[in-house]
Amino acid sequence: MRIAMIGGGYVGLVSGACFAEFGSDVVVVEADPAKLEMLREGHIPIYEPGLEKIVDGNVAAGRLSFTDDLGASLDDVDAVFIAVGTPSRRGGGHADLTYVYEAARQIARAAKSDLVVVTKSTVPVGTGREVARILAEERPDRTFSVASNPEFLREGDAIGDFMRPDRVIIGIDRTDHAAGVRAEEVMRALYRPLYRIETPVVITDLETAELTKYAANAFLAMKITFINEMADICEKVGANVHDVAKGMGLDQRIGKYFLHPGPGYGGSCFPKDTRALTAIGEDAGAPSQLVAATVAVNEARKKAMAERIIAEAGGDVSGKVIGILGLTFKPQTDDMREASSLPILARLKDAGAVLQAYDPQGMNAARSLLPAEVIYAPDALTAITGADVLVVLTEWSEFRALSPSRLRDLMRGKIIADLRNIWDPAEMREAGFDYRSIGRP
Ligand code: UDX
Repeated sequence: MRIAMIGGGYVGLVSGACFAEFGSDVVVVEADPAKLEMLREGHIPIYEPGLEKIVDGNVAAGRLSFTDDLGASLDDVDAVFIAVGTPSRRGGGHADLTYVYEAARQIARAAKSDLVVVTKSTVPVGTGREVARILAEERPDRTFSVASNPEFLREGDAIGDFMRPDRVIIGIDRTDHAAGVRAEEVMRALYRPLYRIETPVVITDLETAELTKYAANAFLAMKITFINEMADICEKVGANVHDVAKGMGLDQRIGKYFLHPGPGYGGSCFPKDTRALTAIGEDAGAPSQLVAATVAVNEARKKAMAERIIAEAGGDVSGKVIGILGLTFKPQTDDMREASSLPILARLKDAGAVLQAYDPQGMNAARSLLPAEVIYAPDALTAITGADVLVVLTEWSEFRALSPSRLRDLMRGKIIADLRNIWDPAEMREAGFDYRSIGRP
């Protein structure tokens, strides 16, 4: 199989490299000259464990290459994937589809044969249909087969998620019967290596595939938001949220994953996709109150976390040194998009605190997003040194390993606000800390 992947961003690069690893020939089309240059020189512009190795190996094997020439990338391909960005449009939750539709137009104009065109980016319901319309409008002389193949990649685990997925979702436009058959054949061939590990493949229509992606992400976001609210109740009634989560999660209908409480979900997917699904439901005349509530509760939670820290610090942080461990929206990534740290640090700065922050991967991205006054420490121990208050915002493993006695020696004060529950409350209290975590007595 030979494919072109339009977009060398997170989704396009991971998917392209993994399809090459499966044995297909892949050309990744990247329009940004700086990014293209990096890729061609063997540098990976994002932090994703295992990706560099797969990219290097497949480039060396001649199965993976990078170009800015979309037209040339379409030579002899069986399928072309659209994996360009779909940011939230300003003023509303709608996804901005400018790049997706522009890619469709360019593909149509450059197509030298009938093509299978697949949307890989997370796109609102109806986008595949519109892509098919654009393709037909631009090139009535060609027959295009349109498919939707949403990704379910977690940052930090993307390679594993691609190579050993829970399922593969393929939506197919069957308006033209023969074109639909062709699309299904090509998609099945591309994912053939997964049949060996008995990965379930759901073959459905375009709209269903598109909605499935949003439904899955919104459900996970709702699950996190639910356990966050349970944590709040636990704090008031003296219960332990981890035992509640364990007790709930052992019910197979509920499942044990995504029940870890924290400062609210962030990242490039959940916030954007829950907003987009809210808009999709409203536009369709079937508004989802649950999804809308999830969005609102999570937003409010991120803001409330700063007030919580201020209260735990005695009601006034002016002039106090706050050591911050972790800035990214979760560990194993350098991604700061919609991280809880953004509203939290902004508020703490406004309240007059001196902020000493450390994150193993996120500090470069953080510099342009956080208040200019934030001091970036070269390591965790420096961020803690002299702190009146210590705040944990991301559960990087290296923070778990810090011993209470080491913290005690370095800190000036005794207050710890652990928003990711990385330490044992009993042990921390025994070490003399005023230790507060989420949803634990
Ligand atoms: C997510 C989906 O998991 C993935 O399938 C989809 O394709 C893209 O969006 P990602 O954004 O990389 O992946 O991160 P994920 O690991 O799902 O975490 C999202 C956010 O939820 C993080 O801020 C994380 O800290 C938070 N979270 C997750 C919790 O607070 N508690 C949990 O139990 C799980």
